[in-house]
Amino acid sequence: MKGIVLAGGTGSRLFPLTKITNKHLLPIYDRPMIYYPIQTLVDAGIRDILIVTGGRNSGDFLRLLANGKQFGLEHINYTYQEGEGGIADALALAKHFADGQKTCVILGDNIIEGSIRKAVAQFTGQAEGAHILLKEVQDAERFGVAEVAGGKIVGIEEKPQRPKSNYAVTGIYMYDPTVFDKIQTLVPSNRGELEITDVNNAYIGEGTMSFSFLDGWWTDAGTFDSLLRAANLVAQMTAKKQISAELAAVEGAVL
Ligand code: DAU
Repeated sequence: MKGIVLAGGTGSRLFPLTKITNKHLLPIYDRPMIYYPIQTLVDAGIRDILIVTGGRNSGDFLRLLANGKQFGLEHINYTYQEGEGGIADALALAKHFADGQKTCVILGDNIIEGSIRKAVAQFTGQAEGAHILLKEVQDAERFGVAEVAGGKIVGIEEKPQRPKSNYAVTGIYMYDPTVFDKIQTLVPSNRGELEITDVNNAYIGEGTMSFSFLDGWWTDAGTFDSLLRAANLVAQMTAKKQISAELAAVEGAVL
């Protein structure tokens, strides 16, 4: 499966932090934001990765990531989104890269604690359609929200005022190659964007959408509060890992 990191858009909710740089280059604790979604794909065994970016600082991605040696990669692909036409508009640019294969798409501001390896393996065996990862949250109105009935997703609403559930649709999506035909049928939403929620609803409509729940914490980092939350969560996770490593070393020395 091929991997796609979407890192376009203006990051307007983070102005003035994003006035002179791209949102995905801002720091989350000890690394630039874009490192986390790339690592999520790599940890799931995905090695062929495309970064979709845009804006005036797109060249900085190349300087930062180069060919992805820091992730154990031999090569990274890049493409450029003109303007900020929405998540589905950014994804449309990956058609050539996908080249008829399944794709795992992750939003450049989505950071997770756990792994998506199991979901990727499951979708590899799925004959057709799409797979999304849900997470129970307290502030569902900030996200795409899935309505689940009888073990199936029956619909997704984008940032509803009165969410029908607490199940946020995380920014990790797996698609078969028909995703690019579905994007071509979309019309811009009220906020002037091609919405990924409309793509997902097209799969739900044809009965080919599967889902699973994401383990561990999940956060986006596109607002001041979530940017801070992401940094704190990563800092805590890093400290926990360090303590576990030190304990393991002590146990090893004692044995
Ligand atoms: O984080 C999960 C949520 O992400 C989902 O629950 C929503 O359904 C989905 O619409 C999205 O909501 P946001 O409003 O938070 O998306 P945002 O506009 O912040 O864009 C998220 C990422 O997508 C951004 O970091 C980069 C990429 N993007 C976005 C736009 C608008 C692009 O690559 N190009 C774009 O034009």
